[in-house]
Parts: sequence; C-alpha cells; structure tokens
Amino acid sequence: MALKRKRSVSQTGIVAFFVFWMHFAIGDVSYSLPEEIKRGSVIGNIVKDIGLATGKLSLRKARIDTEDNSKRYCDINLSTGDLIVSERIDREALCGDKASCVMKQELVLESPMELHRISLHVQDVNDNSPLFNEDLVKIEIQESADRGARFLIEEARDADVGQNSVQRYSLRENEHFKLSVDGNTVELVLDKELDRENKEAINLILTAMDGGSPPKSGTVGIHVTVLDANDNAPVFTHTSFCTTK
Ligand SMILES: *[C@@H]1O[C@H](CO)[C@@H](O)[C@H](O)[C@H]1NC(C)=O
Repeated sequence: MALKRKRSVSQTGIVAFFVFWMHFAIGDVSYSLPEEIKRGSVIGNIVKDIGLATGKLSLRKARIDTEDNSKRYCDINLSTGDLIVSERIDREALCGDKASCVMKQELVLESPMELHRISLHVQDVNDNSPLFNEDLVKIEIQESADRGARFLIEEARDADVGQNSVQRYSLRENEHFKLSVDGNTVELVLDKELDRENKEAINLILTAMDGGSPPKSGTVGIHVTVLDANDNAPVFTHTSFCTTK
C-alpha cells in the first residue's frame, strides 16, 4: 500500500508569523493513508516533513497528542522521527457516510514549546459488501397484472463510500421479470404476463455489486406469489328461475 504524502508548510513570513502566534506552529502536515492499515506501519517521517532538526526529539520531549482529547491514532518514534500507526483506523466507524474522513492529531514539542497540526486523511478501502435488509423478499402479484407493471424492491446498502458503495444490480435470468434501476430506485418490471394456472410462484435472485477492485456483492431472494384473478369463468350448474310479472 503506497502512502501518498502532502506537505503544507506556511510559506510567507506573515502567514508563518500569524500561525506561529496563534498556535505556536510553524508548519502543519497532512498525510493520506488507507483505513485498516496495520499497526506499526510508517505513515511518514514527520521530522523531515516539517523540517525539524533530527536527533533532538527526546531532548525536546516530543509527543503526539490530539486537539480535543480524542483518540490518538499515531505515535512518533523518537529516534527516527517516523510517524507510526498505533490504533486500528476503521473509516466506517469514524466517519460513516462522509466522503472525506480526516483525523486531527498534533505533534507537541515541549522545550521550547512548539506545536504542529497533523491531518490524517483516511481513505476508504472496500471492506464492506452490499447488504439487503432481508435475505428473502416476498411479494404478491395479481396474475392480471399488465406487462410493464413495476414492483419496488428495497435497495441494498454498503457502508463504504464512493466507488466502493453499490454501483449496479443484476437479476438472474428468468422468464417473467426484468430489472429497472434508476438511482436508488430498484424495480422489477413485468416483462411477460403471469398465469397462476401455469405457475403459482416464481423465485428470483437479485444481486447488488459495489465498484471496488475486486468488487463485493450481496444477494436477496425474491419470492413472487401469483394471486388468482378469477380469470377462469366459474362453471355454474344450470338453475331454472321462475319469474312472474
Ligand atoms: C524506532 O525505530 C528504530 C529503527 O527502525 C527501531 O529500531 C526502534 O525499535 C523504534 N523504536 C520504537 C520505540 O518503536
């Protein structure tokens, strides 16, 4: 897994002075890393990226902290200046549906006091599959339903974001139904009319795929019960009625 690195160090003296004055900071760094990266992985060398003198970290009592006492996700190796992953980073748990997921951490040097903000941009990994609410959906359709009739099916959800979320659906080939997908709206479309006398129930399989590489999928069974529409004229025995005027 390649780690991309972005450096954003304040360039002009005025900005540098202002930031320094506000936060005792002369440079902030931001890194991009995939979620679920192994503990102990090296994110980058923060000493080089900020431009600090190496070999003085212990002396200056360097440590990683957070702005608001939230959880620490990284640590610093005081002899090398490497920033190390110290906690599991689960993007879904931390950021849910949000497209961008940034963890704020700080490098604190105590003597003399100096503070650098560290932004960890957590990239989504396709670690979740599309999921339907149920394993089996049961629907009832009148055998008199016209060709083109539509039946809504609840869409699948995927905890991942972007390309790693649900991208497409497919319906296993069958005689009666086709699939129509428009955004989040998934519908069965009756393509060939039903006949209860011929078939009382139809079983379908719907698959949702995400766009990860490799992609992940989830399926739901659809059980269609064909309801009688009384289309066969009942057979009556002849009765004689006597009417008088
Ligand atoms: C810091 O890095 C060095 C060199 O990779 C390693 O030998 C040492 O064990 C590390 N220290 C800690 C506390 O992880």
